[in-house]
Amino acid sequence: MKKEFITINEKETKKLGEKLADEVLKKKKNNEKAIIISLEGDLGAGKTTFVQGFAKKLKIKEKVLSPTFLIIKKFKLNKIKNFSNLYHIDCYRIKNFKEIIDLDFEKIISKPSNIVIIEWAERIKEILPENIIKLKFFYIDENKRKIIIEK
Ligand SMILES: Nc1ncnc2c1ncn2[C@@H]1O[C@H](COP(=O)(O)OP(=O)(O)OP(=O)(O)O)[C@@H](O)[C@H]1O
Ligand SMILES: [Mg+2]
Repeated sequence: MKKEFITINEKETKKLGEKLADEVLKKKKNNEKAIIISLEGDLGAGKTTFVQGFAKKLKIKEKVLSPTFLIIKKFKLNKIKNFSNLYHIDCYRIKNFKEIIDLDFEKIISKPSNIVIIEWAERIKEILPENIIKLKFFYIDENKRKIIIEK
C-alpha cells in the first residue's frame, strides 16, 4: 500500500513520524526479524525530522540528531511492547554497504525486538530485506515536502 503526504512545516513531518510509530506499535507482533524502516530522498528533505517524531512516540527523551558522523546510534527503549532498542542509522557517508556490515548490521536486523530506521537507505539497497517499510522524501520548496510511505 502506497500513501502520499504533503507537509508544510517541520511539525507536520514529525506528526507523520509519530503516526507511523503508532502503527508499528499496534501491529500484531509476529515478526521474526527487526522492523526496518528505510528513508530515502533529498538532502534536507526531512528524514531526521521524521525520525524525531517517530522517536518521541517511543518515549525516547534524548535528542535525536543526525547521526552522520556516528553512522549508527542506539536508543534503549523502556517497556515499549516487546521492543528493546531503536537503531537510527545514517548512510550518508557510506561508500560501500560493506561498511555497514562491519558495524554488525546483520546482527541488528536479525533481532525481532529491534526497530531500525535508516536515512539514505538507497546507499545500502543490496543488503536490505524485501518486506520493509519504505519512505521517500522530496524537497518541494523551502517549507513544503512530499513524503511517500509504502508498506
Ligand atoms: N515540511 C517540512 N518537513 C520537515 N522539515 C522541514 C519542513 N519545512 C522545513 N523544514 C526544515 O528542513 C530541514 C529538514 O532537515 P532534516 O535534517 O530533517 O533533513 P534530512 O532529510 O534528514 O537531511 P539530511 O539528508 O542532511 O540527513 C529542517 O531544518 C526543518 O526545519
Ligand atoms: Mg538527516
